[in-house]
Amino acid sequence: MEILREIRPVRDLVGGWKREDKSVALVPTMGYLHEGHASLIKKARADNDKVVVSVFLNPAQFGPGEDLATYPRDWDRDAALCESLGADAVFSPEPAVMYPPSFEAEVSVPALSRVLCGASRPVHFKGVCLVVTKLLNIVSPRRAYFGLKDAQQFFILRRLARDLDLDVELVPCPIVREPDGLALSSRNSYLSPVERTAALALSQGLFAARRLVADGETGAREILEAVVRTIAAEPLARLDYAQAVETATLRPVARLEGECLVAAAMWMGRTRLIDNFIHPLE
Ligand code: PAF
Repeated sequence: MEILREIRPVRDLVGGWKREDKSVALVPTMGYLHEGHASLIKKARADNDKVVVSVFLNPAQFGPGEDLATYPRDWDRDAALCESLGADAVFSPEPAVMYPPSFEAEVSVPALSRVLCGASRPVHFKGVCLVVTKLLNIVSPRRAYFGLKDAQQFFILRRLARDLDLDVELVPCPIVREPDGLALSSRNSYLSPVERTAALALSQGLFAARRLVADGETGAREILEAVVRTIAAEPLARLDYAQAVETATLRPVARLEGECLVAAAMWMGRTRLIDNFIHPLE
C-alpha cells in the first residue's frame, strides 16, 4: 500500500491506474478509523479496481471552540487498518499541503448548510464542501464513499456534485452501530462510561420514531415527539434538534412523503452526537 503526503504523487499514481482503465474509488476520512469507515473501505474495495483512502483532519470544517485540537488521532492504527482492508493507497497530507499560505477559495452550498447541524456549526459544511471538492479534484475517482451517519453531509455533497457537474458517483453507505445501537463515531471516544450508557437515548429515540414509521405513522410531529421524549427522559442528555426534512432541500416536512430524513443531534456533556434514519425505511 502506498502512503502519499503530497498531491503530485497522488495524481501520478491515479493517472497510471486510469491509463490501464482501472476504476478508482475514494474513501474520504478524518482518521481515527472505526468499523464504520471499514465498511466504506470494504464497499469501495468490492466495487472498484483501486481504492484510495484519504486521512486528513480538515481544520476548515471545525469552528472556533470546536474539538479540532482534541480530535482523536492514531495514524499507525489507521494505516494498518487500511492496509488490512486492501486499500491501494492512503493520502494523508499535512494541512499546509491542502491549504498553503494565501489560500482563499471557498466552496459552499449555503441553504442546505444552514439547517440541522449547520444551525449550531455555521462553518462546518463550508469546510466539508471545500475539502471534499479538493480531494475529488486531486484523486479524480469514479466513485466516492460516505457514511450516512453524516446524512446531511451526504445530501449537501450530492447537491454540490450536481451543481458543479462533478464527474463522480457519490455512494451513500448505511450507518454502522455498536451492538447496543449507538451509531459508531470517532467522537464516541470522548464519552465517559456513564455518558456512553446515557448516549443510547439518541439511538433509542430514533428507533422509537422508526417503529412508529414502520407501523404507518407519517406525521412529523408524532414521529419527532418520540425522539424528544426519549432524550428528555435522560438527565445527562441535552437535545440540540430533532427534525424531519425532505432530503432534496433539507426543509422541514409536516408528513413523511417521498425521500425524507429524520435526524437528531444531542449533547452528552461536551460531546455532540448525531444520528438519523431515512424514509422510506429499508
Ligand atoms: O465525514 C467525514 O469524516 C469528513 O467530514 C470528510 C467527508 C472526510 C471531510 O473531511
